[in-house]
Amino acid sequence: MTLLGVTDIAKSFGERRLLAIDTLTLSAGQSYVLTGENGSGKSTLLRILAGIDAPDSGHGLYGAQRFDWHPYPDWLRREVIYVHQHPYLFHSTVADNIVYGLRARGVDAGRREALLAAAIAWARLDHLLATPPQKLSGGERQRVALARAWVLSPKVLLLDEPTANLDAESRRQTIDLLRGFCAAECTTVVACHDRDVIALPEMQPLHLADGRIRPRPVASD
Ligand SMILES: Nc1ncnc2c1ncn2[C@@H]1O[C@H](COP(=O)(O)OP(=O)(O)O)[C@@H](O)[C@H]1O
Ligand SMILES: [Mg+2]
Repeated sequence: MTLLGVTDIAKSFGERRLLAIDTLTLSAGQSYVLTGENGSGKSTLLRILAGIDAPDSGHGLYGAQRFDWHPYPDWLRREVIYVHQHPYLFHSTVADNIVYGLRARGVDAGRREALLAAAIAWARLDHLLATPPQKLSGGERQRVALARAWVLSPKVLLLDEPTANLDAESRRQTIDLLRGFCAAECTTVVACHDRDVIALPEMQPLHLADGRIRPRPVASD
């Protein structure tokens, strides 16, 4: 069953036509890995899906509800979450960063505490609670960002190169967490070049080339 679909998505920067996607449909609960060369438009596509950026034209369908980007609907913002490759963290505390979205949504303090505790356990962040966010490593920041997304129970999670530039152990931990999302009901799209992520059995391939979603090229090695 299609959860999120977009049609006739065009996006140009200046003279350059970056995206020209006829249709892209994401099934409920399915996980996808989005590949494509650097500069092919992966981040732009994820940002458009999350309503952070708008296409020049096109429309979308979420379940049976049509939407566009003028404006991107608030109800959809609650369902679709984008996690940046280099997540921004507030310089307060790790816990504050995790519950930020819950507070913004008006979730009461008791429920916030319960979700915070569950997220800390889920992302194995207990030993980092006293560390200033700006002192965290790239892998730790990525785990805080995943915990911050996880507490919001998104229906669609868009991860932008979550394992890029991480050491081997951080990569392994991050892949474990993203598999947790994939195993849940969440529809997940992971933009990446990471062979271990691409090879995960639950991942359906999406490949972006020349602005379109194409079949993935056969690996050359
Ligand atoms: N706001 C912007 N203004 C101008 N060019 C942009 C902007 N955002 C992205 N681009 C350009 O679009 C291209 C695709 O970027 P991006 O979506 O980040 O690709 P990818 O994530 O696949 O590496 C790049 O050439 C980039 O320079
Ligand atoms: Mg990118």
